[in-house]
Amino acid sequence: MKVGVIMGGISSEMEVSLNTGREMMNHLDRNKYEVIPVVFSKPAELVEKVKGLDIALLALHGAYGEDGTIQGMLETLGIPYTGSGVLASSLCMDKDLSKKILCYEGVNTPGWLCWDSMEDYSPEAVQQLGYPVMVKPNTGGSSIGMEKVNDEQDLHSAVMRAFASDPNQSILIERYITGQEITCSILNGEFLPVVGITSSSSEWFDYRAKYNDGGAEEVVVNLPHELDQLVRKTAMTCYKALKCSVYARVDILLTDGAAYVLEINTLPGMTKTSLFPKSAAAAGISFSSLLDRIISCSLT
Ligand code: DAL
Ligand code: MG
Repeated sequence: MKVGVIMGGISSEMEVSLNTGREMMNHLDRNKYEVIPVVFSKPAELVEKVKGLDIALLALHGAYGEDGTIQGMLETLGIPYTGSGVLASSLCMDKDLSKKILCYEGVNTPGWLCWDSMEDYSPEAVQQLGYPVMVKPNTGGSSIGMEKVNDEQDLHSAVMRAFASDPNQSILIERYITGQEITCSILNGEFLPVVGITSSSSEWFDYRAKYNDGGAEEVVVNLPHELDQLVRKTAMTCYKALKCSVYARVDILLTDGAAYVLEINTLPGMTKTSLFPKSAAAAGISFSSLLDRIISCSLT
């Protein structure tokens, strides 16, 4: 079976994508698959590069990869690909829209504002939301362009930087909630062990903490039964409500016995330091068998 590992792209998470792709290349079983690296720097180049593949293994993150655009192209070309479809991918990439759906489903998510241009800029609205806030690109990833803002004095510059880093010129101002950051990974409708995150190099789980060796400690957490049930229920509600399939990672903040969803990642990172493979390993699933499952699940 010809498996193309699709990586690179044009998003701000290109570097992360290359690392995810490299890890996937290292762990794909060569007895089962003919592995073809497909690195691209212009989405249009992909049309030729994916011809003849039996499946496109998506190692992409962010715009043109995780947001449904490449998925749509592959659908049109009739090439199977791994992970969620077009709708789930684009919904989960848009934090504002996914949070709206989660609210409808009764899932907690930190209060937020979404601004589509500087015309929406309103320090009064942020004051009402309450400081501190996280300012983040609405359709970004890996915490790129994201900043914690403690007071009005730093708001304007953080907003400008977030706008500059969002591919769709849209940003989120989200209430900063302190609590235990955890992540719940789902593979083919099954839960993988919940992993807790303690950032050691930063106040919150930023790019440095995510991708530097030792930047954060990520360990399986044994939550009290009720809280564990709540986390699972919350993660599955998100997965279903946003129409995810094959696999996804739901990022959650636990505070005072409540679970606040930060976001759903339809193509979670698979780098050496990433959470999804760690969670799978804790369930006894090696990286190679994780890839086998993702591939077989995506083909059925
Ligand atoms: N956006 C990165 C890759 C993640 O969520 O793992
Ligand atoms: Mg993300």
